[in-house]
Amino acid sequence: MTEKFPEILVTGGAGYIGSHTCVALIQAGFMPVIVDNLSNSHPLAISRIEAITGTRPAFYKCDIADDAGLRTVLECHPCVATIHFAGLKAVGRSVSEPLETYRDNVCGSLSLLQTLRSRGINRLIFSSSATVYGGAEHMPIPETASIQPTNPYGHSKAMIEQILQDLVTAAPDMAIGVLRYFNPVGAHISGEIGEDPQGIPDNLFPYVSQVAVGRREKLLVFGDDYDTKDGTGVRDYIHVMDLADGHVAALQRCLDTDGLFAVNLGTGQGSSVLEIIQAFETVSGKPVAYEVVGRRPGDVATSFADPSKASDMLNFKAQRDLTQMCRDAWNWQQRNPTGYANR
Ligand code: NAD
Ligand code: UFG
Repeated sequence: MTEKFPEILVTGGAGYIGSHTCVALIQAGFMPVIVDNLSNSHPLAISRIEAITGTRPAFYKCDIADDAGLRTVLECHPCVATIHFAGLKAVGRSVSEPLETYRDNVCGSLSLLQTLRSRGINRLIFSSSATVYGGAEHMPIPETASIQPTNPYGHSKAMIEQILQDLVTAAPDMAIGVLRYFNPVGAHISGEIGEDPQGIPDNLFPYVSQVAVGRREKLLVFGDDYDTKDGTGVRDYIHVMDLADGHVAALQRCLDTDGLFAVNLGTGQGSSVLEIIQAFETVSGKPVAYEVVGRRPGDVATSFADPSKASDMLNFKAQRDLTQMCRDAWNWQQRNPTGYANR
């Protein structure tokens, strides 16, 4: 008889962080059940999860707001918990199309929560973001810093956090982990899965690796006049597989303890844009051409986590350093120069 592993509903599991977390879940003895509408991902990611782990997770192309579709999934798969990644993450688009972001993130989450409640699934991990802290004044940023988002995407995350807090107050038998990610980067060490942005990347790491592979001419460095070590923006980059491990740790706590907790997932270390360029050049052996231009509206000078709560509460500490983040991002980029679409 085959052993039955606890099933975990993973919304947005075909996406960047979701696919890596599915690998970590399988390796930790859980069975992901992925629902994803594929609005920002490729179904090949599921086969790649299987290539890495030897296990093919169940996959359903389904929107989180599709109550009937989700109920059908949950009738086949009695999941013990949910990890909720599904949502829109493009900050710029959230400014130009706020209703789209609020509908997908807030209305989608509300609908999902109602479906989960009706099925008695009361353990949940939610993908939040350091963006909820806005322009925090003091570094490193602890979880007690004020919540003051500066764009519709950040507001949508803060709204969902509030909804989850109110839900736990009303239903103390629930267990919810709110994970505030800093800057997830890198890829699985195999190069099978990684970040596959559509169009021109908004974020630094995929842009740098596309310059190194020759797909883009040069990086635009958004400002070198910040009050930082070299004038460029400083961020807390965390390897996506460390982030994935953080989800497993948070899930294990949620399975054991009721109530809501919110933790930062970061390394506690800040790196500047120029340091990233240099680290990437060293690892790839390729030059990364760049030009310094004006600041990007809405950017803060510095953002890095106080990771001590995750360490104390979840026994979680990021293990992989900047060299490994660059090496794994570069390996993914080289093996998949145009992302999942090239195979
Ligand atoms: P992603 O776009 O790669 O993954 C999100 C997945 O959700 C995609 O596969 C998409 O197709 C799916 N999706 C979107 N709306 C859906 C819906 N209504 N129903 C079903 N599926 C839907 O993004 P990611 O980088 O993996 O981010 C995952 C989560 O983490 C998101 O909630 C994001 O806001 C959050 N987050 C990401 C970052 C980051 O820098 N990548 C930082 C902080 C927080
Ligand atoms: N940068 C450039 N050129 C680029 C892209 C970025 O110089 O082409 C700079 C930015 O100015 C910033 C740094 O590189 O100083 C990092 O920028 P990213 O866009 O990679 O990351 P952000 O910190 O701006 O934002 C990201 C996600 C948000 C998330 C936040 C915290 O885009 O959604 O991390 O998790 F909320």
